[in-house]
Amino acid sequence: MARTWIYLALLTAVSSPYLYDRYLVGSDLFSNRPGALQPFNHFKQHEVKFQNRIRNCEDVVLAEAQGLAILSCDPGRDRWNTVMGTFATEKGVPEGGLWLYDYLSANIGDEQALQPLHLRGFKTADFHPLGLDWEADNSMLYVSNHARTGPEILVFSGNLRNGYVDFFMKFKNDLVHAPNSIHSIGNGRLFITNDHHVTAASSPLLAQLETYSGVPGGSVVYADLNSYARTAAKLVARVPFANGVTMLNATTLAVASSSKPGVYFFDVDRQFNLTAKGYMRAPAGVDNLSVDGNGKLLMAGHPFVPALTKVAKQRPGCVPGSEKEEEKSACECGAPSWAAEWSEEGGLKELYKGYEFCSSTTLVRDTKRGVGMMSGLYERGLLVFKE
Ligand SMILES: *[C@@H]1O[C@H](CO)[C@@H](O)[C@H](O)[C@H]1NC(C)=O
Ligand SMILES: *[C@@H]1O[C@H](CO)[C@@H](O)[C@H](O)[C@H]1NC(C)=O
Ligand SMILES: *[C@@H]1O[C@H](CO)[C@@H](O)[C@H](O)[C@H]1NC(C)=O
Repeated sequence: MARTWIYLALLTAVSSPYLYDRYLVGSDLFSNRPGALQPFNHFKQHEVKFQNRIRNCEDVVLAEAQGLAILSCDPGRDRWNTVMGTFATEKGVPEGGLWLYDYLSANIGDEQALQPLHLRGFKTADFHPLGLDWEADNSMLYVSNHARTGPEILVFSGNLRNGYVDFFMKFKNDLVHAPNSIHSIGNGRLFITNDHHVTAASSPLLAQLETYSGVPGGSVVYADLNSYARTAAKLVARVPFANGVTMLNATTLAVASSSKPGVYFFDVDRQFNLTAKGYMRAPAGVDNLSVDGNGKLLMAGHPFVPALTKVAKQRPGCVPGSEKEEEKSACECGAPSWAAEWSEEGGLKELYKGYEFCSSTTLVRDTKRGVGMMSGLYERGLLVFKE
């Protein structure tokens, strides 16, 4: 039933250039086209660090109690990106990894401040981490892994300061078919977004139509990992290209949409069912969300999506450090970044727009220490800022 409905909506979208136009204009793409975009940033100080050590970092989450940031980075994304529809596996696909950035250490630019986070007891050659979440109360780490054998949620636990976490369990469920972001609400209970209904793996064309039409094909799933039953998960909302997900406070869930640029808000009831309660439009495709210590919603995303698509297309040819012009230029990243904060009282305040740091996905901030970070899907390093 749901499937038929989606296909019908897609058909309507294809046959209606009007919808497509509306998307282009409505999403501020025009004013953010190359050459027109006006860069700015409101950081007191910022710097891109670790450019020679990490790249393609999609997610960064803070473990504020430890003063650590956990990063999920995947050089393999150049050739294997289930969200953007890149499946160029012929020349091999390097693995991704998790990193710990000690942003409290004396010199936050020190190479020592960035170390790999070892995953003890977890063996695979198929690790392609995307969204993460850190559950501070129970020292649990959740990772969505876009393995080539199929998507799964990995769970680890441990003391981050040890430099490793232990593998705990793996969660797979039919409802979690394209997991993007994870938000833990404690005790193994999660909200997970699926970015698409039709995945790029099953049909690149339909997946793209889904993106550009703004059809609510993406979904929000509630999952309880304490239960292995199939009923451990339930679909609680549909959102066009659902991306970042986070609780804003005890009763409000925020879900980012990358195709109908903005954020959807939901009331969460005691059984974790959702009721829509509003939408905030943003002048960029919103990728990931986080909430800072002052309760502000932070977001990062893509002001000009076609540039991101272009990067994704050329990336399979990228060979870092190569002398060959073709392999070198395939590594370039020309997709602008965008970041903003939102609160009900303060409204939307843009913090960054520009090309200096490419393809931003996540913005986080430790308000007590006045330090923040931004990650970039196809970028080298991590943008670290001070307020
Ligand atoms: C986005 O960030 C949040 C927390 O900051 C995290 O829970 C989520 O998994 C992230 N998602 C992605 C796709 O990076
Ligand atoms: C909410 O969720 C519960 C259990 O997950 C379900 O049985 C119930 O019907 C849902 N309520 C509504 C109003 O959808
Ligand atoms: C949660 O946040 C929303 C949006 O800012 C607000 O309308 C609501 O009153 C808040 N709820 C609580 C319990 O603070």
